[in-house]
Amino acid sequence: MVTKHVIATEEHMDIEAIREAGEILRNGGLVAFPTETVYGLGGDALQKRSSEKIYAAKGRPSDNPLIVHICQWDALNKIAKRVPEAAKRLAKRFWPGPLTMILEKAEIVPPETTGGLDTVAVRMPAHKVALRLIEAAGGYIAAPSANTSGRPSPTLAEHVAEDLDGKIEMILDGGPTGIGLESTIVDLTGDMPVILRPGYITQEMLSQALETKVELDQTLLKEDSAQTPKAPGMKYRHYAPRGELTVVSGNEGSVIAAINGLIREKHQAGERVGIICTDETRICYEAECIASAGARGSEEEIARRLYAILRRFDKEQITTIYSEAFPQQGIGQAVMNRLLKAAGYRILETE
Ligand code: TXA
Ligand code: MG
Repeated sequence: MVTKHVIATEEHMDIEAIREAGEILRNGGLVAFPTETVYGLGGDALQKRSSEKIYAAKGRPSDNPLIVHICQWDALNKIAKRVPEAAKRLAKRFWPGPLTMILEKAEIVPPETTGGLDTVAVRMPAHKVALRLIEAAGGYIAAPSANTSGRPSPTLAEHVAEDLDGKIEMILDGGPTGIGLESTIVDLTGDMPVILRPGYITQEMLSQALETKVELDQTLLKEDSAQTPKAPGMKYRHYAPRGELTVVSGNEGSVIAAINGLIREKHQAGERVGIICTDETRICYEAECIASAGARGSEEEIARRLYAILRRFDKEQITTIYSEAFPQQGIGQAVMNRLLKAAGYRILETE
């Protein structure tokens, strides 16, 4: 299959391209498109064949459910059996935006879309191209991140092409995505709201909007938790770079000293080393590839750049990666969640 590449940014909305993409989706094909978080790989959420094609294109296990993207409030009542008060509040407060809610699923959503679960993940993205595309497709787009399963999520159309060229009908290129990490997922099917995946919308923001306690799925914090994560996708080793990644934590001086010692060792062993650091520390290292994720304390910039850095290391055939640990305020919690997963929870504490 030849994949068609089309520019469609929020500033220069190509209505004709979006109409064509909508038709592809309605006919059961696949289109990758920009959202405010990462690029999505879209198929019609109400056609089981489309969901099966998504799994095949990504090489994703079919027990890992997809997020249904909507563009109108009414759509929520169509795909959820029941819309609890909490869901209404969160939708009002954070949609369109980087928040996915888990609700009981209605009959019209095929089990192929939800990985066989009787719940459904729903989100209304804050991106004009995405919203127009959902409308053009008939209102319901199932979309996981548009990467091959196990690779970092795409934050540029080029990343999508690296993984999916030749496997899908079209890629809408909207430029770099704004947030750079996937949406926050909150499960509203139990007695208390539970965050299954941290993101831009934090525990504190959710708890404030709901005026209740919001829990964090315990499996997010460490690897060897006895429970299995409630979001099936979180159990897979996600976001994995090809090089072996270790996160190094501690005070700045000891982290720099430890990483430099490790670089020397790895160079002697003939490895190609990549470093993920900050603007303030980049001059402290010498290695094949040094990538600053942004200024220390600017978690949003770090979130935006992280996945592109991991992909760049793959391209440069980096075999060993060391990353400084980052502060966990705001979206910093999501940054560290993704980084630790990418590292297979390999962490070196220096103090
Ligand atoms: O920001 C995002 O959410 C992006 C953009 C494209 O919207 N999408 C995304 O999708 O990250 P994906 O498929 O890569 O991640 C979806 C996560 C998976 O971990 C999956 O297991 C979980 O959501 N999930 C989906 N439906 C679920 C359900 N019914 N119950 C629990 N977890 C669910
Ligand atoms: Mg994904």
